[in-house]
Amino acid sequence: MRAFLAALCVAAAAAAADSRCAGKIPSSWSWVGPVVSRNSSSIQHSQFSVGAEGMDRQLTVFDNWKSYLSGTGAKFARVQAGWERCEPEGAGSYSWGWLDNIVVGMVARGVEPWIELSFGNSNYPNGGNAGSSSPFPQAGPALAGWLAWTTAVVCRYSPVDNIGAACAGHSRAPGLSTVLGANIFQVWDEPVKAGNTIQAYAALANATATAVSLAAPGAQVWVGGFSSPDAGLADALLTGMTHMGGVGLVTGVSYHSFTSAPEAASSAVSALRATASKYGDIEIVQGGGGAPSSPADAASQSGYNWTECSQAKWVSRRMVQDHQDDITTSVFTMVDMCTPDGGVVADGLIGATCPSKQVTKPKPAYYAFNALASLFDAHWHYRSLSITVTPASGGFGSYTPFTGAYVHDTSSEFWVALWLGGQTPTNAGETPTVDSTVTIRADGLFAPDLCWVDPVAGSRHRISTWSFGNGLYTITGVPLSDYVTVVVACPEAA
Ligand SMILES: *[C@@H]1O[C@H](CO)[C@@H](O)[C@H](O)[C@H]1NC(C)=O
Ligand SMILES: *[C@@H]1O[C@H](CO)[C@@H](O)[C@H](O)[C@H]1NC(C)=O
Ligand SMILES: *[C@@H]1O[C@H](CO)[C@@H](O)[C@H](O)[C@H]1NC(C)=O
Repeated sequence: MRAFLAALCVAAAAAAADSRCAGKIPSSWSWVGPVVSRNSSSIQHSQFSVGAEGMDRQLTVFDNWKSYLSGTGAKFARVQAGWERCEPEGAGSYSWGWLDNIVVGMVARGVEPWIELSFGNSNYPNGGNAGSSSPFPQAGPALAGWLAWTTAVVCRYSPVDNIGAACAGHSRAPGLSTVLGANIFQVWDEPVKAGNTIQAYAALANATATAVSLAAPGAQVWVGGFSSPDAGLADALLTGMTHMGGVGLVTGVSYHSFTSAPEAASSAVSALRATASKYGDIEIVQGGGGAPSSPADAASQSGYNWTECSQAKWVSRRMVQDHQDDITTSVFTMVDMCTPDGGVVADGLIGATCPSKQVTKPKPAYYAFNALASLFDAHWHYRSLSITVTPASGGFGSYTPFTGAYVHDTSSEFWVALWLGGQTPTNAGETPTVDSTVTIRADGLFAPDLCWVDPVAGSRHRISTWSFGNGLYTITGVPLSDYVTVVVACPEAA
């Protein structure tokens, strides 16, 4: 037994960022085990997605990292379908092998690919190019070619139950299940740049949504892919689509979130939600937000000394804040990308060397993602319970305490997520720990015993300093830190 526990201890330590990254846990809270790890197949449903971007431009290689996919526990993955890579020699001659491998390989691993229809195709006059700043195909053979490719993609990867008469004569991906496949299609990505206007995007989105829904009447259509939660752009887009008659086909508006403190996007997200709701039953989706593990990152969030420690903390806060707000959220990105100019996009949950694109190893953010995806499946729902957080001495400094209570849909158990937010996550050796007293008004809910899950340390501890009286759980000595930790009902086995 002792040897067995020692082995578990090693596993937990391997998943930790750096002992100097995790917060301090009170010595009287006994170690129970490593965090519970579930893979994508063993989680039935959740709102967590991982980004699998860039394969349309061969910035990462699916076969190099697919063995790590299920270990994230993500239920969705964002795939850029790459018009030019699919149709590399001009009109109607498709090359599907690379994308079939990805879609079929993801589905086999318990992960549903959600497909982004992008970018241009230089084989068509005015068809744009394969890059993310491509002009839109707006008219003539380019637009016709785009819509034909859209139809072919949707027919090829949608579950059979979803597809309609427009798919007659279209091929399906060999080996794809008839009941599983891609159910969500997003029109382009970060559309308003390099001369592309929101009005032109509205026209592209309307025409593309029409093609998607004719091919698969049961499919979801996401528009936006905005670089931030921009209610003004969403309003212009949805107004444009209303005038063209296609707004009713939209099921989601997506945006990306790259603020250095994940919580900083919340008021803009609320405004976006309010705007989208004016146009129908439209969900909002965080479709790609991440933080790099190195300040030399080529894509995002420059000007801060990002490390694997601050990245892991950022990911924990992005995931739980969005889960709390009932938003499907996709962490950018699965693996570091190699850009054609020799740069590295270091937002990967897994490292890669460039230019070989070989993976190195999962980063702490990978384990933190998995720990949280393993906890917060679709059985857990945010509930606004009355929670107070009081520092034992002094205050929270420049931080704001964030709390969220979750209730299971078939039991009366509750969990509480706690973190210090509002600031960029710190690096190893700088992690703040604010000793606090937390009270939770139970409201008829029940926990036989309380445990502490630390997704960055990769550990579970039994909380020894709690009491219950007058409907109130009181926990003293809670080590609040600048990443998400979770008070859970201890499992019986703990
Ligand atoms: C996922 O977890 C289940 C249950 O523990 C296990 O049976 C299955 O082999 C795992 N799948 C992968 C791909 O690791
Ligand atoms: C917009 O979409 C609607 C619904 O599919 C369609 O009837 C209409 O023709 C489309 N308009 C344009 C300009 O694409
Ligand atoms: C950035 O973080 C690394 C790793 O913690 C550290 O070694 C380095 O000194 C830091 N650099 C700056 C400029 O703070």
